Amino acid sequence: MPRTLLIAGNWKMNKTATEAVELIKAIVPAIGKQTDINVVVAPPFTALQSVGENLVNSTVNLGAQNVSEKPHGAYTGEVSTAMLRDLHVTHVIIGHSERRSYYGETDAIVNKKTLAALENTLKPIVCVGETLAERESAKTFEVIGQQITVGLANIPANQFANVIVAYEPVWAIGTGKTATPAMAQEVHAFIRAQLAKLQGEAAAQKTRILYGGSMKPDNADALLAEADIDGGLIGGAALVAKDFIALVESGKKASARK
Ligand code: PGA
Repeated sequence: MPRTLLIAGNWKMNKTATEAVELIKAIVPAIGKQTDINVVVAPPFTALQSVGENLVNSTVNLGAQNVSEKPHGAYTGEVSTAMLRDLHVTHVIIGHSERRSYYGETDAIVNKKTLAALENTLKPIVCVGETLAERESAKTFEVIGQQITVGLANIPANQFANVIVAYEPVWAIGTGKTATPAMAQEVHAFIRAQLAKLQGEAAAQKTRILYGGSMKPDNADALLAEADIDGGLIGGAALVAKDFIALVESGKKASARK
C-alpha cells in the first residue's frame, strides 16, 4: 500500500479570523473535493472555528499549530486536545522549530504533547530538523535521531499509524533556501530507519514523513518525487491561495506516480 501524500499549510501567526475566512474561501473551491491526497490547513487558534465552518462538505482537514500536554485546568493561555476536537480539528503540529527555539519546547515536552494528542485521537505532525550550525558540524543525524527517539517514545503500537513526522531543516524555514531533493531524501530515509527501530519496519513503512522549509510550487515536484518524501508542511506559500492550490496539484501528480 503506498502512503497517502499529505500537503499541510501552517499559517503560523498570520490572518485574523476574518482574513482567514477570505483565504480559505479562495482555496476550497479549487481543491475541496479532491480525494487523491490528504490536505490540512492549520490556521491560528482564533480562526479555527471560522475556517472550520468553511471546510464542512470539503475534503480539507483542520489542523492546529500547538496543543497543551495537560487535559484541562489552571494553565492560563493553553488550549487542550478536547477543545481542539470540539472544533473538529483532526491534526496538530507539535514541536515546530519556532516553538522549540522561541518557547523552549524540549523533546520531552514534544513527547508529552504527542502522547496527549494521540490519546484524544488527534493526528500529531511532529516536527524535527537541524540548525545550520548543527548541519555544518556534521551533527544532523545525531540531532534528528535524538528528536525522534525522545519525541516519539512510548507511543502505543496501535496509535502509531496516526503519527506524521515533518522534517524541517531550520535553516530552510522562511529563508528561501530549500534542501535539495537528495539532501532531504537522505534525512527522510534516516528518519524512517529510526522509526523502524522504535516501532518496527512495517509501521515505519506506513508513516508519512513530510518535508518543510521553503517548499514552493517551483520546487515541490522534485522534492515530492523522492521515495521517502510523503508530502509537505508549508509556511509562506500556504498563505497565498494560488500557491497552496498549486502545491496540492503537485501532490496529486506525485501521488499518481508513486
Ligand atoms: P516555510 O515554513 O514554508 O515558510 O519555509 C515552513 C514551516 O515552518 O512549516
